[in-house]
Amino acid sequence: MAVLPTVTFAKPGSALSGTVVVFTNEEFRFGPQAGALRLQRVVERAAAAADFKGKPRSTLDMLAPPVESADRLLVVGLAKGADKAPSHDWLKLGGAVIAKLRRGHPATVLLEQPDGKPVPAEAAADFCLGAALRAYTFDKYKSNGGDDEESEQGKESPPALTVLVDDPAKAKRAWTSRLAAAGGVYLARDLVNEPANVLGPVEYAERVKELESLGVEVTIFTEKDLRKLGMGAYLGVAQGSSRPPRMVMMRWNGGKAKEKPVALIGKGVVFDTGGISIKPAAGMEDMKGDMGGSAAVVGAIATLASRKAKVNALGIVGLVENMPDANAQRPGDILTSMAGITIEVNNTDAEGRLVLCDLLHYVEKEYQPRVMIDLATLTGAIIVALGHHYAGFYATDDKLAANLSAAGEATGERVWRMPLGPEYDKQIRSRFADIKNSSGREGASITAAQFLKRFVKETPWAHIDIAGTAIASPATDVNKSWGSGYGVRLLDRLIADTYEG
Ligand code: BES
Ligand code: ZN
Ligand code: MN
Repeated sequence: MAVLPTVTFAKPGSALSGTVVVFTNEEFRFGPQAGALRLQRVVERAAAAADFKGKPRSTLDMLAPPVESADRLLVVGLAKGADKAPSHDWLKLGGAVIAKLRRGHPATVLLEQPDGKPVPAEAAADFCLGAALRAYTFDKYKSNGGDDEESEQGKESPPALTVLVDDPAKAKRAWTSRLAAAGGVYLARDLVNEPANVLGPVEYAERVKELESLGVEVTIFTEKDLRKLGMGAYLGVAQGSSRPPRMVMMRWNGGKAKEKPVALIGKGVVFDTGGISIKPAAGMEDMKGDMGGSAAVVGAIATLASRKAKVNALGIVGLVENMPDANAQRPGDILTSMAGITIEVNNTDAEGRLVLCDLLHYVEKEYQPRVMIDLATLTGAIIVALGHHYAGFYATDDKLAANLSAAGEATGERVWRMPLGPEYDKQIRSRFADIKNSSGREGASITAAQFLKRFVKETPWAHIDIAGTAIASPATDVNKSWGSGYGVRLLDRLIADTYEG
């Protein structure tokens, strides 16, 4: 597991060492901390030489600056009104700054606004979270530890940050909950990046079991248990793999004893070949990440537990491998789901909904949760619709939808609402069974959601299709990892703002 950077908060005036980071603006102003270093002239000369204009998030790098005990000075542009900037701007700034620092080398950040206004504690903590998210690496299979061009981050541990802010104690408190979130994201990324030969359903379940050290109750269901529960749809997917499925239930009980849980449900297809309806070879390796929904759920539960969230949360993941095999299900097979709804499998590659439908029914029936939210790398169609910058979501409840959108904007893990509607039911009618699992190209993410909705009765429910955001992620200021860990911070934020307390 990649190590999180160490972050220490201290008062302005504390000792400086390593790279010193200061902030300026387009007028080359400096706050009191940076001002005390008397660098105005030398920075202006260096800025002119490097054509640095102080634009937000741009940087000027100066070696051997005239500051005692500092070997490097990093001047960073900061926008006006940063104290009122959204949380996500501070994340991006932290990411942009740590990207310029040397790994294995300490840095001291004089965190203040160039106009002299202090940086709020929450913003300081967001800055550090952005830095932590950006510093993640996955180099465990590099014999050289990652010291090559492919893994640009190198093998050293991330820079240790000392952040000088007005109220270090308050910043530290704000950082504690974000450190928990960073840990959850690291865990989710590790799970998604891990190849399927290493992380089969059994191995994955064992890793989830480790959450017990955080106080999470973990229950593992074997194939026999799933059969007893009557999860015929989930088992239909499992039967093509020589590696048996595992359903894993995680419970974090941080709320009142009688309080109904918030339920998080994740698609955990450790590898999706498509089954007998096999996928084309090109890009199939990406399907090791078809458990991204489950990773978000595991990461979110880990986050809630490590920050001791005052909420009862239940996470459940359907771990399974979708393989073609002599024993695999065939197109045309008819499965009986736990809900009793029969499903014609006209495409074995539409396997995610077969797993989720049994989980949704089970969770609603057994736990009557306050809300159910499932996450899944469910359809290629959502990538066609939204690309890689928004996940698509569906909701049966407008309040839940609004809260999810707000959490998306706050964290930068953005979501865009898509429609549900009885008109789409026609596309999943089956000649032989109650419904079929695939319905052609038109609105293919919507019909997948409409399929899932058939398995939800009363509970407010949202389905988030993260096929475009969880894997093969474009590099951003806060993420360089192939598996982005998308969803962990979104869920954590939604729960903190809506269900906690
Ligand atoms: N896991 C895939 C969806 C996917 C595609 C995730 C690309 C990430 C990147 C899913 O199981 C799948 O194969 N969906 C099919 C559904 C179709 C057969 C109805 C799809 O989207 O093509
Ligand atoms: Zn899949
Ligand atoms: Mn598939």
